[in-house]
Amino acid sequence: MKLVVCKNYDEMSDKAARIIKAGMILKNDIVLGLATGSTPVGVYKKLIEANKEGKISFKNVRTVNLDEYVGISYNHDQSYHKFMDDNLFDYVDIDKKNTHVPDGRATDLNRACKEYDEMIESYGSIDIQVLGIGQNGHIGFNEPQSTFSLGTHIVDLTENTREANKRFFNNIDEVPTKAITMGTKHIMQAKVIVLVANGKNKARA
Ligand code: GLP
Repeated sequence: MKLVVCKNYDEMSDKAARIIKAGMILKNDIVLGLATGSTPVGVYKKLIEANKEGKISFKNVRTVNLDEYVGISYNHDQSYHKFMDDNLFDYVDIDKKNTHVPDGRATDLNRACKEYDEMIESYGSIDIQVLGIGQNGHIGFNEPQSTFSLGTHIVDLTENTREANKRFFNNIDEVPTKAITMGTKHIMQAKVIVLVANGKNKARA
């Protein structure tokens, strides 16, 4: 593991984006694991800029997102489907057929988890996984105590995580109580992981 301390958010976003851009240049059909949350937004902005300048192309890139709330409409401002469109996919030359976000609206959620794992495994493994981190150390929606062998699964969000995420909703009651998340199994199988963390509230995690 290499820990890179940056002087500010912009430098952190730039360094993380450079790793991803290099990966995309070396492998044009790279499999990128993507994360939501406010922290990676700067990284995505740098990737959008590089795409607009013609330095990288997303044409053959495949993406696999970490998580989604259960029961939230894809048009909801806090849906991670919408987040990815608004912060990356709608601004780059990606083929949306190659993008994947777990299906939190599936009627059979267990089946949706199994199919998500099969999709990831059909890609081999993730080449570069982008991660944020929750204040309590959660990754995607894998809480610190979850086991490393888990594939995609449904989680009951802890009060701590719901409390931390209520800033994006009108009030705590609107924060979903469940989420579908890729498990640490596939995250840890990624060839490279780039975890971005910003701010004092993340220092302990
Ligand atoms: C959510 C996401 C995580 C993310 C975390 C931190 O809980 N499921 O993937 O890492 O928020 O978000 P932020 O970067 O806004 O602090």
